Amino acid sequence: MPNLHDLFEPRSIAVIGASADRGKIGYRLVENILASGYRGEVYPINPRGGEVLGRRVYPTILDVEDEIDVACIAIPAASVFHAVTQCAQKGVKFVPIITSGFSEVGNLEEEKRIVAYARAHGMRVLGPNIFGVYSAKASLNTTFGPRDIQPGHVAIITQSGALGIAMIGKTAVEEIGLSAIVSVGNKADIDEADLLDYLIADDDTHVILMYIEGIKTGDRLLEVLSGGTQHKPIVLIKAGRSERGAVAAASHTGALAGSDVIFEAVTRQCGVLRAESLRDAFAWCKFLVETPLPSGENTVIITNGGGVGVMATDACEKYGVNLYGDRPTLKDIFSDVTPAFGSTQNPIDLTGQATDAGYHAALTAGLAHPAIHAVIALYCETMLFDIDQLATMMTTFSARYRSAHKPIIFSIFGGDRIETLIPTLRKRHVPFFTDVYEAVSCVGAMYAYFHHRTAPADAPEGVDINSRRIDQVVDNARRDGRGFLLAYEGQQVMAAADIATPQSHLAHNLDEAVAAAAATGYPVVMKIVSKDILHKSDVGGVALDLDNRDEVMDAYQAIIRSCRAQQPHAMIEGVEVSNMVPRGVEIIIGARRDATFGPIVMFGLGGVYVEVMKDMAFRLFPLSRREIMAMLKETRAYPLLLGVRGEAQKNIDGVIEAIMKLGTVIQQCRQISDIEINPLMVYEQGIDVTAVDVRILIGN
Ligand code: ACO
Repeated sequence: MPNLHDLFEPRSIAVIGASADRGKIGYRLVENILASGYRGEVYPINPRGGEVLGRRVYPTILDVEDEIDVACIAIPAASVFHAVTQCAQKGVKFVPIITSGFSEVGNLEEEKRIVAYARAHGMRVLGPNIFGVYSAKASLNTTFGPRDIQPGHVAIITQSGALGIAMIGKTAVEEIGLSAIVSVGNKADIDEADLLDYLIADDDTHVILMYIEGIKTGDRLLEVLSGGTQHKPIVLIKAGRSERGAVAAASHTGALAGSDVIFEAVTRQCGVLRAESLRDAFAWCKFLVETPLPSGENTVIITNGGGVGVMATDACEKYGVNLYGDRPTLKDIFSDVTPAFGSTQNPIDLTGQATDAGYHAALTAGLAHPAIHAVIALYCETMLFDIDQLATMMTTFSARYRSAHKPIIFSIFGGDRIETLIPTLRKRHVPFFTDVYEAVSCVGAMYAYFHHRTAPADAPEGVDINSRRIDQVVDNARRDGRGFLLAYEGQQVMAAADIATPQSHLAHNLDEAVAAAAATGYPVVMKIVSKDILHKSDVGGVALDLDNRDEVMDAYQAIIRSCRAQQPHAMIEGVEVSNMVPRGVEIIIGARRDATFGPIVMFGLGGVYVEVMKDMAFRLFPLSRREIMAMLKETRAYPLLLGVRGEAQKNIDGVIEAIMKLGTVIQQCRQISDIEINPLMVYEQGIDVTAVDVRILIGN
């Protein structure tokens, strides 16, 4: 990891392309640096010489006598390489390149040439194609965006320049102070992980907001993110869903795991708070930076309106906020401050007649009681409340709660009088919204982070598998020129991973099929075996529940006829005859090597409707059994494993072990790219789970 200290706190900075022309970026950069109160030395560079904003302009960077930490480049793309060679000669440490016209327009070679040269000469490149860097620590605004940036404790890393500049404007409106904002542009060298590393260690940064579109080194980013979220909240907005790879589409796991789904799962696993909209992202950052973490889960809603109270209750369910439900204690705390026709059950309803004094009493009671850990205070405009009193009450209690380390958020709703309060409340840093859901979503984000920070840190676990045997099976398939394993090879892999499969035989002709069925015992299942047929049911290659010799003979002929008709060129090895396993809960489990993030495991509702139901959860592997359990619980399929309508609980441990085994196969057998069992038949506790159909793909 590079040490980015000198990028954020340089002792001196040069602007290559500094211009006296007020319309140029080179002018704006010098203007912003000088206006921001930067205490280091500033050296404008331009072959024309002269002066810019009263500063002497040097013809080249080599003419500057002083040492230079950062050289910000804003000259046309064709001249950048030469400027970088001069920076190297001068011993510059960091070169943020504002200039566009590189890989983003297909000019990858020039970008690579610049970075290779810079790296070979001990320099690091930020960008190209960026709007610059703002660093509150150095009072340094090396951007061509807005001049005045309010210093504070939120750091922003953005891949989109235009959005980044707009974000600066938005932070000003929202009264959000920044510790830093950095544009990463094409990320030819320094990337988000490098910047995160610095900002996570930076004491002035309390919350980090990232906007990203694509990721180059996913595993390293995840490592930095999971380390970072142990120290401070990281809010992320990711746009763009990447294309599904051809290999991915050949398996359910891959097809379902459109990379955004994987991204969502793995970043959540790292404790990152992913926002769907800029609005949420800013709201969360603002709330998290101004609000202490709670000491527990018990949240109370205090309201003067029953309707908004119900809405807030719904929102709490949606955002995973736990409403405190101990009625006797709630009554003890709030009965003195609630009218007889109100409610002391959560939401605490002070009713429409609540006055300033009523809110004072209820908020004081909530603040004082240790069983309450967070408060959502709702106010619907009534004529009983003086609007200035409302602002004062909110300001007073937000300060009191903050100093008591107890989170509070307000939601106020009404007409003109409420609207006029907004600028005042923002300036006073009172956490408030005019929409209940927005307010509760902030509390939800806070609790998601709280849960991550307080979850027991358990070490990843593993299981023993016979990986040598699996590699042999895969080697044989490779020699055969196949990118996937045949059914019986899949069963050999299952045996090596110690996952039960149905007993089966390969029959090359009708007589062998009949004999195999008799040996297996009825009822049996028959499936086509062909290296050219991956999706067997689609071509009539599967027959289930065959009870006797005649049915086996008919089914054998029907399978061969159908497969020959639908795939005339397929090489058919024969038909696999297996015992028909009893029905159980049908689930799907899988593991795959994601190109960006590495080994991933999956669990979901199995059977033929997998892709319709899309009921799945994903995790990075390795992980603990406790985390696999958490993954199971995220799905709608999980209650089926608990047993519905009086059924006994199913073998959940067996499912967890099977997932652990698939993850270990993907981790250890690097030739396998995807492995999927659908269905995995799950029975009652004490009975082994059985892999009925196994699909295994070989990577490149
Ligand atoms: N060293 C020093 N100065 C030089 C050099 C050099 N090697 N070569 C040229 N200059 C000077 C020029 O003489 C000029 O100064 P002048 O006004 O005194 O004549 C100045 O540098 C700028 O050069 P121009 O040729 O005038 O280039 P211009 O300013 O029009 O454009 C720029 C340069 C801004 C870098 C442009 O090429 C570019 O890439 N623009 C896009 C920037 C961008 O959008 N980046 C992404 C941001 S993120 C977002 O989307 C907002």
